[in-house]
Amino acid sequence: MVKSTERTIVFDELAGQYDNTGVEFFGPIAHQLLELLGPRPGERVLDVGCGRGAVLFPAAAAVGPEGYVLGIDIAAAMVTATAADVAARALGHVEVRVLDGAAPDLPAESFDLITASMSAAHFPDPFATAAHYARLLRPGGRIGVTGPVPPRALSEWDLGALRVDRIIAAADPAALAAAHPRVAALYGEYPFGRPGRMCDALRAAGFTEVAEQRHDVVLAAPTAQALIDWTWSNGLRVYWELVPADRREQVAAELTEELTARVGDGPVTAMYPVYHYLGQLPRTGGVK
Ligand SMILES: C[S@@+](CC[C@H](N)C(=O)[O-])C[C@H]1O[C@@H](n2cnc3c(N)ncnc32)[C@H](O)[C@@H]1O
Repeated sequence: MVKSTERTIVFDELAGQYDNTGVEFFGPIAHQLLELLGPRPGERVLDVGCGRGAVLFPAAAAVGPEGYVLGIDIAAAMVTATAADVAARALGHVEVRVLDGAAPDLPAESFDLITASMSAAHFPDPFATAAHYARLLRPGGRIGVTGPVPPRALSEWDLGALRVDRIIAAADPAALAAAHPRVAALYGEYPFGRPGRMCDALRAAGFTEVAEQRHDVVLAAPTAQALIDWTWSNGLRVYWELVPADRREQVAAELTEELTARVGDGPVTAMYPVYHYLGQLPRTGGVK
């Protein structure tokens, strides 16, 4: 049985409200990733860390009923919620399973396309996935892994107008230190941040046409409060949970004031940069 760990428990907590605050985030990232990968009718897709299906559902539409999409996620609550959506949409060619995406035990050469949008950065060793996924792909198979662009330091982390570092600065220092493995796994060490490492791992695993594409996701919220609510609806929530409960309101008020000082009471925007890492296996053999 796959168990949630410190690294993933936040996603079990989040499954019910995940990405549904009205601030679009995972959807536009998934859309761009799929545009870069171009899933075709009849293809077989593995979506790693499928969450609530930002990649899974558009991929299912692109490959159509002649194709197949398997979504895997380590958080059982995510899988249960997404499986219910799959059933409600009567998508017979889509399956969702609880499975560790770091090294999934699936048949070799069984997919044409593997996607991992905003998930592999949570694995203990995201670079090791390149070799695992190369084995699961048929010759000519494509991969697209998306992860956050790291801040230079947690203490100076802003998403444009939204200062995440203000939340981190308000965290209880002992709680922050104690939570280090969880926080570091989610955001703190940003393994994808070391320039070129993911591309090197993809090349070493036999992928060609390897590329790294930056995408600055615009977070558009109707109000400052909606943007703050958004920070509670995804992995950033980890930082709020480290702020003493009786200080959270004040920190949120300060963030709101800072946002509205720039733009007034109306809509606010922030910016979240990500990298898409892309590769393709040679059409005949060649995988190490
Ligand atoms: C930020 S969410 C992204 C979800 C989805 N790909 C999307 O774009 O909306 C990260 C997802 O990765 C999952 N995850 C984290 N570690 C995982 C692992 N080792 N194996 C499979 N899924 C994992 C989490 O449970 C969560 O659903």
